[in-house]
Amino acid sequence: MVDLTRAEYPLSSKYDADWLLDCDMGPNPLWLLEDLAGELDLTPGLKVLDLGSGKGATSVFLAKEYGVQVWAADLWVDPSDAAANFAAHGVDATALKAEAHTLPFAREFFDVIVCIDAYEYFGTADNYLAYLTGFLKPGGRLGVATPAMTREVRDLGYIPEHIKKLVGWEAIAWHTPEWWRFQWEITELVEDVSARMQKSGWSDWLAWAEAASERTGTPDGILEMLRADQGEYLGFALVSARKRG
Ligand SMILES: C[S@@+](CC[C@H](N)C(=O)[O-])C[C@H]1O[C@@H](n2cnc3c(N)ncnc32)[C@H](O)[C@@H]1O
Repeated sequence: MVDLTRAEYPLSSKYDADWLLDCDMGPNPLWLLEDLAGELDLTPGLKVLDLGSGKGATSVFLAKEYGVQVWAADLWVDPSDAAANFAAHGVDATALKAEAHTLPFAREFFDVIVCIDAYEYFGTADNYLAYLTGFLKPGGRLGVATPAMTREVRDLGYIPEHIKKLVGWEAIAWHTPEWWRFQWEITELVEDVSARMQKSGWSDWLAWAEAASERTGTPDGILEMLRADQGEYLGFALVSARKRG
């Protein structure tokens, strides 16, 4: 039996490990969100977009733990999968299929936008922050958890072999927290920017990959990559800011 309870993530520890692993599309989404949430001023009733919400575990967590109204938008996962998770947890959230560049919402509709392990797929273009913050009310918060490296691939001049072997060129989207900070601050669209490498990012990711692999009984390329890395390059960046205005 897999144990995903962690003293440092008391809210996440309330959720069933098998359910979390059934929802698995990326590592430890609730741990990432619980850490990031401290920067997001989540209070009951706020309108929150969970962008790239996958099967909806983070949306369930947002609704249950913070009492916010959640819109769960995702491209690859059928919204009925997330809706089934919402119903099973007694959560009244809205699941929809949406592409991150053509979001079907009114301008300034949301108080908070959260994006856990998905921003790397669509959020690295220079113009994306301006597009996305268009959906935030002035003063609203944006919070992103995204795979990160301790050094920019551009500075290294190469993608480290153990990372390239698994993710190939996609690692060029795994930026350092410093890259994100500059990228967001220079726009002056947001203020109060926080960008940090999560302290336990690599070890949490490893623990999750071990749990996932133990459950399926199959060897895992992610485990191999993380073990080879030993925390030298890989982890997660937690990035948040407030929309000006
Ligand atoms: C690694 S999964 C993470 C899912 C979920 N946030 C979690 O942590 O379990 C990345 C998610 O990003 C979504 N995604 C990727 N590209 C997208 C796009 N262009 N627009 C909307 N969602 C996208 C995928 O559908 C997928 O569910």
